[in-house]
Amino acid sequence: MSDLQAAAKKAVGEHVASMISSGMTLGVGTGSTAAMAIEALGHRIREEGLQVKGVATSFAAERLARQHGIQLSTLDETPDLDLAFDGADEVDPAFVLIKGRGAAQTREKIVASRARQFIVLVDESKIVDELGHRMPLPVEVVPMAVTPVMQVLHALGATVEIRMGMKKDGPVVSDQGMWIVDAMFNGISNPEHVNDMLLKTPGVVDHGLFIGLATTVLVGRSDGSVQVLDRPTA
Ligand code: A5P
Repeated sequence: MSDLQAAAKKAVGEHVASMISSGMTLGVGTGSTAAMAIEALGHRIREEGLQVKGVATSFAAERLARQHGIQLSTLDETPDLDLAFDGADEVDPAFVLIKGRGAAQTREKIVASRARQFIVLVDESKIVDELGHRMPLPVEVVPMAVTPVMQVLHALGATVEIRMGMKKDGPVVSDQGMWIVDAMFNGISNPEHVNDMLLKTPGVVDHGLFIGLATTVLVGRSDGSVQVLDRPTA
């Protein structure tokens, strides 16, 4: 990550942390941008004694939140969240997202769906006119179904590959014990269609298209400023 990108991520992390007040229940996102928000929130907890409860979207987020003094909860205990924050890989003009570079998209979507406000934290490079030209769509799959699911993705026009581990032989194994297939489209012109096709394919646990969930997008700029975009009305 360049210094300029890091400055943009820090700016949105601090901005969302400033939107949080004592007593709030939170969804705690995964990835390098969400990490900036966790850090900024931890700072407020230490300095101001802010009291919040967070539901983590991954083992990684859980560990980081704990390190920064965020009290953790579960959806069993706290099924309704005031605010969830998370990063994204791409954001389109209708606030549809691609997420999942860190393979956490299934839990991230569950947590986002329980939040009254879902705040997406990005730098300007993530804003696109159409999804799927630059980033693959991650699809979480039950391992025995990987070939049939890849056939469905191929029929939808994607080039597919199983995500492989680093410093581990074989596929990435998600927090749920599943595999991730990365599907590279030549643009996703109809996200709803891709969503419907995937969700009706046996063996697909979930995928990284987030439709109708984001309420606000915070766009960080390298000069440290933040642009606040609210969901366009349909
Ligand atoms: C985690 O699986 C992802 O959904 C991340 O939230 C997303 O990839 C954005 O990550 P960065 O903030 O690290 O770019």
